Amino acid sequence: MKTLEQRLTWCASFVEEALERQLSANILLMESPMTQAMRYAVLRGGKRIRAFLTIEFCCMFGGIPEDAADYACAMEMVHGYSLVHDDLPCMDNDDMRRGRPSCHKKFGETVALLAGDALLTQAFYCIGNHGTKESYNANSLAVQALSRCAGALGMCAGQQMDLAKDIQDYDALKMLHRLKTSALMEAACLLGYYAAKGIPNPDTEKKLEIYAQNVGLAFQIVDDLLDVNSTAEELGKPVGSDVKNGKCTVLKFLSQEEAFEEARRLSQESSALFAGYENSDSICQLPMYLLNRKK
Ligand code: IPE
Ligand code: IPE
Ligand code: MG
Ligand code: MG
Ligand code: MG
Repeated sequence: MKTLEQRLTWCASFVEEALERQLSANILLMESPMTQAMRYAVLRGGKRIRAFLTIEFCCMFGGIPEDAADYACAMEMVHGYSLVHDDLPCMDNDDMRRGRPSCHKKFGETVALLAGDALLTQAFYCIGNHGTKESYNANSLAVQALSRCAGALGMCAGQQMDLAKDIQDYDALKMLHRLKTSALMEAACLLGYYAAKGIPNPDTEKKLEIYAQNVGLAFQIVDDLLDVNSTAEELGKPVGSDVKNGKCTVLKFLSQEEAFEEARRLSQESSALFAGYENSDSICQLPMYLLNRKK
């Protein structure tokens, strides 16, 4: 029986190998600054939390990690693209990501922009290309979930709210966090379920949505707190970025203690949601692990 940390480590190397294959010269065909930037943005980096959610939910619902590998790659590609664009000078203008220069610092803005576009598109190729004829239904559900959660109804809408900076109250900030951060986590959870089952189930999908919403809200609160309390060395990205950009964070409405308490409450709630399910240990333990993370 592996501990949560052992499973996270195993999953990170499993998805790394799958991403290497999905972004290999074989698949991308033509080597260019853009393909180098795509690999730079996605390989050898990150906590792989979204991939982990996809793989663990797949296993919880009766699948094996291999069933979820393509969808987990798709999640990390969309997440990687969102970070490349988020760091651009026209967005957060941050020079460091995952302990090295941001994609646009290394490759220039034009190539970084294109690499982000191509990663987003390649993610849907990974899903569409998954499995055999029997996977068509699951692939179609996965495309619907990921496009809804990543686009104008999800992450992009959250990034738009984040730029607008006119957040008046905590409820509006929660909406922003739900869109910019929980939405991709929701897609990750749903894709894990579809990889295992391949059929819709409104009750299960609702439960996955609530889990992801709470985990995502807590995750973004902790991210906002780390931006003021951590160091660039530990985080691998600049600190003070939110203040520099005049961003509205949780600290506009709550003290640090209140914010952490809110994140703790949300994490505890999500921990309890799948208790009693078989093979749900990682899913139940992950929220508290993320609450106490240092990066
Ligand atoms: C960063 O996500 C963006 C946010 C939603 C706060 P992660 O903290 O999961 O980034 P990586 O993948 O581990 O670098
Ligand atoms: C970004 O939130 C979330 C995305 C959708 C990319 P942040 O701007 O706070 O993420 P970091 O702190 O740069 O990782
Ligand atoms: Mg941002
Ligand atoms: Mg940012
Ligand atoms: Mg942040």
